[in-house]
Amino acid sequence: MMIKLAPSILGADFGHLEEEIIKTNESGCDWIHLDIMDGHLVPNISFGPEIVKYVKSKSDLFLDSHLMISNPEKYLEVYAEAGSDLIVIHYEIEYDKIPLLKKIRNLGRKAGISINPHTPFEAILDILEYCDLILIMTVHPGFAGQKFMGQVVPKIKQAREYIDSNKLNVEIEVDGGISMKTAEKVIDAGADILVAGSAFYKSGNYREFTQKIKDLAEKS
Ligand code: DX5
Ligand code: ZN
Repeated sequence: MMIKLAPSILGADFGHLEEEIIKTNESGCDWIHLDIMDGHLVPNISFGPEIVKYVKSKSDLFLDSHLMISNPEKYLEVYAEAGSDLIVIHYEIEYDKIPLLKKIRNLGRKAGISINPHTPFEAILDILEYCDLILIMTVHPGFAGQKFMGQVVPKIKQAREYIDSNKLNVEIEVDGGISMKTAEKVIDAGADILVAGSAFYKSGNYREFTQKIKDLAEKS
């Protein structure tokens, strides 16, 4: 099975960001995941479009911007222009998701919807046709380095079965607590893209970590 790995730059050493991006580029990974937090939808603040722009200037990898912000409407253009190839918004915001997803596609970017651990997959059935990707959270969003929530695995399987049986062109990305220990469960459940923050950036050898994930995927 082909699996993509998307290291979350939030786990990188921001004191040496350029070097971290270069090492990420050389690791053999597929995408770079950017966690944008507004301190409102989630209880933490991370970084904004300037960092996305900087990463873009140092990397040719596909940039996956995960907007954990309450009012993404205001910022879609900004994150598109900063260099995001995919923009993911949260299902849990108070706004209508369909116009936002349409707007992302109109900006020429891929559109994704993210669901928190307690949001059922059924919640997004009506909006799947406006999505290129669903991002299933396996931690409560807000912080890197949290424990993987194994109880979410059946939801990944459910999404895989639904997408396959309805022949939808929607990728499944899984985010939160993914490590060499938990990756196999996520791969077996049917994920297409794995996000890894702490496990990747604390591994000491990004290339080796990426290779190990790819080997795991090959075996399953
Ligand atoms: C959580 C973020 C994740 C997180 C990943 O709010 O969306 O992308 O930073 O980090 P790890 O892999 O350490 O859970
Ligand atoms: Zn994320």
